[in-house]
Formats: sequence, structure tokens, C-alpha cells
Amino acid sequence: MTLGGRVRRGFFLTLEGIDGAGKSTLAKTAAELLRTRYPDVRCTREPGGTPLGEALRRLFLEERGLPIGARAECLLFSAARAQHLEDVIEPALEAGTAVICDRYVDSTLAYQGAGRGLSRERVEALQNWLAPSWRPDLSVLLDLPVEEGRRRGQARATPPNRFEDEQRTFHEAVRKCYLELAAAEPERIRVLDASRPLPEVLEALRVVLEAAMPEAEAGP
Ligand code: TYD
Repeated sequence: MTLGGRVRRGFFLTLEGIDGAGKSTLAKTAAELLRTRYPDVRCTREPGGTPLGEALRRLFLEERGLPIGARAECLLFSAARAQHLEDVIEPALEAGTAVICDRYVDSTLAYQGAGRGLSRERVEALQNWLAPSWRPDLSVLLDLPVEEGRRRGQARATPPNRFEDEQRTFHEAVRKCYLELAAAEPERIRVLDASRPLPEVLEALRVVLEAAMPEAEAGP
């Protein structure tokens, strides 16, 4: 597979879902599974992963009172992604590393497109411009009813971010968009039912990851 004309040797896994779906727990198990096939596994997140990305993350998640319009929000997430791709994701994939990214392009389509009501075509066009080779090898969508995600979020010690504070309709739109994206690209986006007991979710992750990883090359 090529990456903007360069060779991509690693494996690119992204984790998606509404707030409270439990992606962090999944990332740890995914890393263990990928390590059986790839010498290095890099776990990263969006927004984040670079000094610019982490600065924007603080701005988004901590400065809850700062007014940020929908278009500005979309551009800021996208700016963080451009830096992340250039500095972290692309070099790692080229070097044969497996990259696990907690949220990626599908988050922008779901949150800024469906959630904030921006034109899907425009958000997609922006993503295609900044990340022409953005397509992950596998995206795992942790699906969960909005109420359950909210309940789990409230049980956490961290204060709610600007998205968790949004109305139920916002989160319903985000969830619906994720499911539509998965229906449109069933090969890339695999949906896991995150309301099931954790061991079952982790087993389902193992199955989809094993199926998506390329066959190990035969030895000499
Ligand atoms: P985070 O604390 O990482 O949430 P979670 O643990 O659920 O991933 O906060 C990231 C928030 O940013 C999350 O609410 C979704 C939002 N987000 C967007 O709205 N658009 C994006 O493109 C990305 C990457 C995240």
C-alpha cells in the first residue's frame, strides 16, 4: 500500500465511538495483539500526538468556555491531524510500525459533520485534502446507546469536555453517522457492541483484528 506515493509497511488501526464507549481499554488489548505481528506498536490519539495536537486538545477539552464555531472547530481538529500525520503517523507506517490511533477522520465526519451540522461533502473534501492517504487498514467502531455512554462518562472522575456537555440529540446524530459510515464501508469499519461485557468485546476485537492483519510472511 502506498502513502502519498511512499511505501506503507505498517498497519494502521483507528478506534472510534461516542464518548464513554471505552476506547482506551480496547487500545491496550489491540496493542498486545498487534505486537505478535509487528515489532513496534505506536499508540497515539486525536486530538493530540504532537505538541500542536496536545495544545489544541487542552484548548478543546479544558477551555470549555472559549467560543469556537463549528467551522473553526473542524479546521482546528483538521490542523491537528495534518501535523499528526506528517510527524507521527506517516513516518511510523513507513518504518513498518503498527499505529493505533484513538479517534481519527471518522470522528470529524461524525462530530463536526453530523453533530455540528456541517456539510458532509465539505468535511470529507477537507479530510481528503489534508490526508489523501488517510484510510486506515481497520477502524473499530465501539457502538453504544447514547444514554449508556452518558452514564459511563458521568461515572468517570474527569470533568465533562465541551462535547460531553452537548444535548442528547448531538450524540444521537454522532452515533447515527458512525453507523452510516460503517454501513458504507463494512470492510474497513467493523462495529463492536460495546454494551456487552468487556471480555466479550475484547474477544470480538481479537477476531476482527486477526482477520484484518496481513498474513505473516513465510520464513526462508
Ligand atoms: P477525549 O477525552 O479523547 O474523548 P474520548 O475519550 O471519548 O475519545 O476527547 C476528545 C473529544 O474530541 C471527543 O469528545 C470527540 C471530539 N473530537 C471531535 O469532535 N472531532 C475530532 O475530529 C476528534 C478527533 C475528536
